[in-house]
Amino acid sequence: MSNKFMPKTPVDLAPPSDTPISMAELAKCDGIKGTVFDVSHNHNAYGVGKGYHVFVGRDASRALGKSSLKPEDTALDVSWDYSTLTEKQLKVLDDWYTFFSNRYNIVGRVSDLPSAKRE
Ligand code: HEM
Repeated sequence: MSNKFMPKTPVDLAPPSDTPISMAELAKCDGIKGTVFDVSHNHNAYGVGKGYHVFVGRDASRALGKSSLKPEDTALDVSWDYSTLTEKQLKVLDDWYTFFSNRYNIVGRVSDLPSAKRE
């Protein structure tokens, strides 16, 4: 499969896992729409003190959909909630999902998101 979201160098991915992962266990991973991606090998982007660390340890659906790094979208208590996103932002969120799927292993599903709005 080839599309504009494919990484430049191929990434070897394991089969997606549906292991339940609690929000407390999420650290070191990045969730999107309840799916947990292991981004721990990309320290340059997601390490402590790096620009995209705000997406780590949470379901970052809202911030990714809104292309936002702001606390009001990345804070733990709201970052999982994408129910307020516009159609356009939901498309952006789906594109990020594809982007992450092509690069990072899916290690589980968030088991205790506050909202029932999951897919
Ligand atoms: C001045 C604004 C920004 C600049 C200059 C910038 C720059 C970059 C660069 C150079 C990359 C690496 C691309 C690559 O690996 O090929 C990247 C990746 C990324 N950017 Fe930004 N960015 C900006 C804003 C944002 C914003 C607002 C978001 C919020 C959603 C965002 C989210 C991401 C994410 C999630 C990645 C993927 C990291 C990965 O897993 O490889 N960026 N950005």
